[in-house]
Amino acid sequence: MAKDDKFSVTPWTVTGKVDYDKLIKKFGTQPLDDNLKRRLEKLSNGSHVLIRRNTFFSHRDFDKVLDDIENGMGFFLYTGRGPSGPMHIGHIIPFVMTKWFQEKFKANVYIELTDDEKFLYDEKFSLDDSRKWSYENALDIIALGFDPDRTFIFQDTEYIKNMYPLAIKVAKKINYSLVKAVFGFKNETNVGMIFYPALQVIPTFFERKRCLIPAAIDQDPYWRIQRDLAEGFGYFKASAIHNKFLPPLTGPEGKMSASQPETAIYLSDGPEIVKKKIMKYAFSGGQATVELHRKYGGNPDLDVSFQWLKLFFEEDDAEVDRIEKEYRSGQMLTGELKEILINKINEFLEVHRAKREEAKETIKDFKVNGQLALKMWNTILE
Ligand code: TYM
Repeated sequence: MAKDDKFSVTPWTVTGKVDYDKLIKKFGTQPLDDNLKRRLEKLSNGSHVLIRRNTFFSHRDFDKVLDDIENGMGFFLYTGRGPSGPMHIGHIIPFVMTKWFQEKFKANVYIELTDDEKFLYDEKFSLDDSRKWSYENALDIIALGFDPDRTFIFQDTEYIKNMYPLAIKVAKKINYSLVKAVFGFKNETNVGMIFYPALQVIPTFFERKRCLIPAAIDQDPYWRIQRDLAEGFGYFKASAIHNKFLPPLTGPEGKMSASQPETAIYLSDGPEIVKKKIMKYAFSGGQATVELHRKYGGNPDLDVSFQWLKLFFEEDDAEVDRIEKEYRSGQMLTGELKEILINKINEFLEVHRAKREEAKETIKDFKVNGQLALKMWNTILE
């Protein structure tokens, strides 16, 4: 866990303003540098906004994934969601990236819905709630455009039968002092939580190829455990690329949180709610009055609307530069900047709503309720 006086990042909470350079050092990961980006661009014949803007900023062994693409070995993708409630626009970042890799490299994708984790973590949360949200979240994930022939979405409490044999072998190699150190578990932590890390590791073994995991940096502690164990079981150490958090609407500190509605835009928010939330809550880097703003300009580094546009919502690099310059110089006011973001988000959500409706039909193709091993899922019981 990364803890210091100013910020802390764990798989469950983020506090303070995250210093991502420091986090790379603390977690022992590598920066996603220009050299890797250029190699990826060459191999994919394109570039993605989330990579260009450094929203994905760090990695483990991503260079080896690129090697495996070059040498024809290929790789597979794995990511997930803890279904604790509605998804917000921060949650989709790893999924958008995963889908892009799938499309570019025709790779298989495994998506774990950890209904067990969320039930175990939150005392007040029922298993029925967790299962209901698994279905709702799966619709949002499918709406992002995954290929049904190459994607398997599964829910832990349903798929456990297939994972359990390997999960107990893995669990036997993880002792309490390790998970205590890695996750900060306490004496009061229930034993379900203590076992759970084994289940988040298992999908990295679904194929005997290298597994690439796009996820925010908060999930990295699981991959550290995986990488210590994998080769002992005859699998590859997992590769990961890590994204930054979309900051909460209310300010640059912490992460957007689904349980605090004023910090987040949910995928289910309609156009009026989006407008209201951004107008009311979006933390501004502007000056107190129009006169002062015109004179001194705004600070886009602190302005949450600008950060959201830059991290994800405005794909056009020239447009981001223009907005940044005009805001910094005072030519663009906070209200105008917010208006740009509102339109971008509402355009995105309008398309998303339609795709989500279609997902109600196609969900069966992704085997959300699949009890069967997938056709390409061929190694786990060997
Ligand atoms: P969960 O449901 O907390 O989060 C889902 C994914 O979203 C990322 N994330 C964010 N990304 C950008 N901005 C934010 N504000 C933000 N908040 C969360 C998370 O890092 C995650 O990638 N234990 C996991 C579920 C899981 C998983 C996985 C995730 C199981 N297997 C493999 C990633 C990869 C969880 O509860 O995620």
